[in-house]
Amino acid sequence: MSTPSQFDLEQYLGARKAWVEAELSRLSAPCDDVPARLTEAMAYSLLAGGKRLRPILALAGYEAACQSSGRSADLSVALPLACAVEMIHTYSLIHDDLPAMDNDDFRRGRPTNHKVFGEAVAILAGDALLTESFAVAARCPAPAEAVVAAMAMLAQASGAAGMVGGQVIDFSATGQKVGVEALRRLHRLKTGALLSVSLCAGARLACSSQAVLDGLRHYGEALGLAFQIIDDVLDVTADLATLGKDPGSDAKKGKTTYVDLLGIDGARRHAREVMDAGLASIAALGSSAAPLVALANYTVERRN
Ligand code: IPE
Ligand code: IPE
Ligand code: MG
Ligand code: MG
Ligand code: MG
Repeated sequence: MSTPSQFDLEQYLGARKAWVEAELSRLSAPCDDVPARLTEAMAYSLLAGGKRLRPILALAGYEAACQSSGRSADLSVALPLACAVEMIHTYSLIHDDLPAMDNDDFRRGRPTNHKVFGEAVAILAGDALLTESFAVAARCPAPAEAVVAAMAMLAQASGAAGMVGGQVIDFSATGQKVGVEALRRLHRLKTGALLSVSLCAGARLACSSQAVLDGLRHYGEALGLAFQIIDDVLDVTADLATLGKDPGSDAKKGKTTYVDLLGIDGARRHAREVMDAGLASIAALGSSAAPLVALANYTVERRN
């Protein structure tokens, strides 16, 4: 499936990113109850840029679900959820970079959080971003039942059976030979779960039908897996200035990646196949899916 030519992805990504970032900035304002150093450490990573793909997916999921049932979408309903997923993602990056984990020095074009604030504050900034994210998500002005369901989905995908579990499998497998099936499971959990749930929690907030939710879930899982396959490729092919984080990190740590198993071109091809299969599950959404088709292409063709 190709991107419909009338859909301006660059404009779409730029506008959504700017809108989410303005709200993240507002949420990061100093407050008397929070130690200044903690506010500073949280804002340092949260406001450092990044593609903002997860919040963009949360808004896209909400919008697609509204449109597929003939309703116009008031995106401000899903904005708190979008910010919450970015807060969870940012916490996961701060912790992922710690010496006990990937021990990386650069993230989003800056020294990593622990390099600037020290490990203790970095760990606590991550903890605070995670905890606060649920208070933020709870502010979505949608029916209470839909908000609670979206929050439960988010907790499940971020926690032991999702991202955190995936990170444990990741470091347990470090230095070991890992096959394609095991690597797929690892990638699905550590990265796919949060990307996929961003989209699905957005749709759940819009009280989407089960059929629409199922289609979005399949698409989201494919997008999440394809995203991490390309992350593995970029770790080998991109440089620090483009990536904003240390390249070569996977090989240095002894991680098995899709590049090890399939080569660079094979991994890129596989990401495209995975994504095409995911796109098939949202075909029924018709024109409401135009942004999702464009986001799928972006995911497999991205350079950072
Ligand atoms: C990096 O995520 C960590 C992975 C899950 C691969 P992103 O590539 O989305 O990082 P940012 O948010 O753009 O910095
Ligand atoms: C991290 O995967 C996924 C997270 C849960 C943060 P990576 O370790 O491959 O992410 P990068 O390459 O450091 O961004
Ligand atoms: Mg890691
Ligand atoms: Mg890492
Ligand atoms: Mg990586």
